Amino acid sequence: MGRPDAPGLKAALLAVLAAAACGVQAAPPSPTRGELLYTTHCIACHNSQMHWRDQRLATDWASLRAQVRRWQGVANLGWSDDDILEVAKHLNERIYRYPVSGDKVVSQRAESSIGH
Ligand code: HEC
Repeated sequence: MGRPDAPGLKAALLAVLAAAACGVQAAPPSPTRGELLYTTHCIACHNSQMHWRDQRLATDWASLRAQVRRWQGVANLGWSDDDILEVAKHLNERIYRYPVSGDKVVSQRAESSIGH
């Protein structure tokens, strides 16, 4: 006679609780730096509709970067060139999809150094 397996159940329950507590670490894939910067500082005033409108100000990669630079200035954020680049890349990948040309793009820098 006796109660079936009560200590075992209790141990199992504790294990589940412990796993649940630790499971918080298993977060979804982390957003890029550019995405974080943008969602933290920029979408207060405009949602993505701003970037879809017909008469957009950002008409290519260069002007997109210029707009990001302009707006971080307006918001007084003091972003570095890298920050501006990351956010421009984020917007470009999400929305604009302009061909990325020119200098300081990390992936291109990596490629060109392989050639040497
Ligand atoms: C104070 C409110 C406000 C904040 C904060 C703000 N924006 Fe804007 N943004 C606007 C408005 C308003 C426009 C439209 C401007 C116009 O038509 O001249 C705009 C336009 C833009 C455009 C051009 C869109 C297009 O293609 O026409 C980009 C890019 C942009 N913002 C990026 C940013 C980024 C990056 C940040 C964060 C650093 C930011 N904005 C923060 C209000 C804001």
